[in-house]
Amino acid sequence: MARRAAVIGSAGQLGVELVAELNQRGYQTIGWDRDQLDITDNRQVESLLTPWDPEIVFNAAAYNQVDVAESEPQAAFLVNALAVRNLALACRQLDARFVHFSTDYVFDGRAGRPYVESDPTHPLGAYGVSKLAGELYTQAYLDAPLIVRTSGVFGPGGLHTARGNFVELMLRLAGSGQPIRVTEDHVASPTYAPLLAARTIDLVERGQTGIFHIGGGAPISWYRYAQAIFAVALPGQAVELHATSEREHRTAARRPKFSALSNARIESLGIGAMPPLEEALRLYFAAREKMVSSSRA
Ligand SMILES: NC(=O)c1ccc[n+]([C@@H]2O[C@H](COP(=O)([O-])OP(=O)(O)OC[C@H]3O[C@@H](n4cnc5c(N)ncnc54)[C@H](OP(=O)(O)O)[C@@H]3O)[C@@H](O)[C@H]2O)c1
Repeated sequence: MARRAAVIGSAGQLGVELVAELNQRGYQTIGWDRDQLDITDNRQVESLLTPWDPEIVFNAAAYNQVDVAESEPQAAFLVNALAVRNLALACRQLDARFVHFSTDYVFDGRAGRPYVESDPTHPLGAYGVSKLAGELYTQAYLDAPLIVRTSGVFGPGGLHTARGNFVELMLRLAGSGQPIRVTEDHVASPTYAPLLAARTIDLVERGQTGIFHIGGGAPISWYRYAQAIFAVALPGQAVELHATSEREHRTAARRPKFSALSNARIESLGIGAMPPLEEALRLYFAAREKMVSSSRA
């Protein structure tokens, strides 16, 4: 019999990919977006999860507004921590496996090398604190959860989400014809959502539990990432892109300067390596083009 899975936050960049990948692998899958299930409402969580009685619950829902969280830390904490507690408790009740996603922003960026799972956490702002609290609630109520930390997620679903993603932001800015300034002194691991979904399900299917890092190919600064986006999407077109720095470009939230994630742990299990960023960007633009042409048809 097909395994029953539930995906929460199914309209987000990662959520749509988890639903697609699970369906492709033959799981009996249900996805709930925020309109159908607001995870901050414990009664809704119980009333939807209990009758579906899933074997595995994936939580791709999150409050991701890193800067806005500094002026509304309660809102971030409600979704990223207290609501995760609701889900963990429901999974305990149903004896379901819980797969939860977290972030590179649980680190302070001072390690100067890609972070491994055993590195000490030290978030620098309200978003990172709320995500770390979500990890802790998950571990407090469940004996064997799977927590996947990732970084700079981009997937074609970002075309239709309220938050979008960095690639879409760069394309919009390029379209405006204005000079674009992007920080060169912050380094991350931009991660392609469909591959993040597939690698996570690989971990589930191998019975893995605990914390795993899944980040894109190699550490890269946001400025170099913007250059790579334009090289793949707008080859030969003149885009006025300038490198800036944290000092010049102040934001409400402090961010880790070097938050790239090491994939050594997943790779040691024989799970496929993440491809170089240029390859992931080419996959992104091919999938995006398909989405755009099917919405035109
Ligand atoms: N995006 C990144 O760069 C990044 C980086 C590191 C880690 N992560 C982590 O990766 C995971 C997936 O992120 P993503 O990029 O797929 O995010 P996303 O595209 O912003 O999707 C998040 C989804 O969660 C939904 N949501 C928000 N509040 C909710 C609530 N109270 N109840 C139910 N659903 C709710 C959102 O709905 P609305 O659109 O209606 O608000 C949205 O559909 C998250 O755990 C995130 O923290 C992301």
